[in-house]
Amino acid sequence: MKTLVIGSGGREHALAWKLAQSPGMRRVYVAPGNGGTGRDRPMQNIPLSGHEELIAFAKAERVDFTVVGPEAPLAAGIVDAFRAAGLRIFGPTRAAAQLESSKDFAKAFMARHGIPTAAYRTFEDAHAAHDYVRERGAPIVIKADGLAAGKGVVVAQTPEDAHAAIDAMLGGDMVGAAGARVVIEDFLPGEEASFIVLCDGSHVAALASSQDHKRLLDGDEGPNTGGMGAYSPAPVVTPGVHARVMREIIDPTIAGLAAEGIRYTGFLYAGLMIGADGQPRVLEFNCRLGDPETQPILMRMKSDLTEVLDAAIDGRLDQIEITWDRRAALGVVVAAQDYPDRPRRGDAIEALPTNTDDCMVFHAGTQQVGDRLVTSGGRVLCVTAMGETLRLARRQAYEAVSEVRFAGMQYRSDIGNRALRDY
Ligand code: AMP
Ligand code: GLY
Repeated sequence: MKTLVIGSGGREHALAWKLAQSPGMRRVYVAPGNGGTGRDRPMQNIPLSGHEELIAFAKAERVDFTVVGPEAPLAAGIVDAFRAAGLRIFGPTRAAAQLESSKDFAKAFMARHGIPTAAYRTFEDAHAAHDYVRERGAPIVIKADGLAAGKGVVVAQTPEDAHAAIDAMLGGDMVGAAGARVVIEDFLPGEEASFIVLCDGSHVAALASSQDHKRLLDGDEGPNTGGMGAYSPAPVVTPGVHARVMREIIDPTIAGLAAEGIRYTGFLYAGLMIGADGQPRVLEFNCRLGDPETQPILMRMKSDLTEVLDAAIDGRLDQIEITWDRRAALGVVVAAQDYPDRPRRGDAIEALPTNTDDCMVFHAGTQQVGDRLVTSGGRVLCVTAMGETLRLARRQAYEAVSEVRFAGMQYRSDIGNRALRDY
């Protein structure tokens, strides 16, 4: 068996690590991969990224299936291209990926299908946007319509902040073309959770719940990032909330897409705000796994991921059951100096903890240069540990983090706090 994982982050390292454990797995190619995925067989990095090159490679190597990590290749139609070439791949088509690649598409879709989300309007004209903020007041949330790598959302506490965000986005200074249209939506109070499912076009299988920490600094201060840490399960997703999310959000989303002629295949990630009354509402859809949520989720997965993805690609998700380790898992992201604005690259990683069954260092922005491992991106590592309780998982993760050494490293010291507060 040979598989191909597309991407280069911590999520892709976790996917490749899990696929590598499947019996009979001869090779897990990762394109382009990172310093962690290039290290141990059967994982192997492939320095390719163009769709045509990847298709030629998958054919020549007789790769059994491909799984896509990040949103950009999905939005660019990599799944359509692989399928047109007769290759097996797990992910949404370009049309389905619009749920993530356009916030306006997602909001209008939810409105059409009665899927709970914050009230909103979309603007291209700054005057009209400013008027809407004057009418609605603050707090209010300003979002760039297009893909902005987690940097296109401003939760404005005051009208002044909201007006400034509108000017920065529509003026093109903040996120470029992604901000040529903005979605302005009501602020939703509550507790966040990440709810990720696999879809095979007809059936849905839920992954374990999780929660990430988007802000850079302790106490949820500082700028938004791609995610500074995550844990699974998320206690806010009680069995009752889980049932509501499936009934009120996931099922109507898949059915609504089908009614509009889009058969959804791939991972579907609903970023949720759970109100004090247990009502889940959608903050965003992603058409992929979360990063760093995937790292703790896959550490808890007991099922063989190759079997799960094989079934998903063949439309047989109803025939398998995904089983989970009862223990909790928690991952702490170790980021580079000056992340998220201008992460410094090229710092030598001088020390790393040893990987064990219960504690894994997933690499993201790392690169092997000769015999040195150096930083090569904003989020460098995600140190992920298991524990009988979330508290114990956290203790073990932070013990391992204390062994990491590279210049300028930064990490949050309070990952998991929101869940532990309630215990
Ligand atoms: P998004 O990329 O849309 O998930 O937004 C990034 C972050 O902004 C979320 O994880 C939330 O913390 C916050 N956020 C987004 N939309 C809202 C909202 N309507 N109300 C409150 N917080 C929000
Ligand atoms: N951790 C948030 C995301 O993957 O979008």
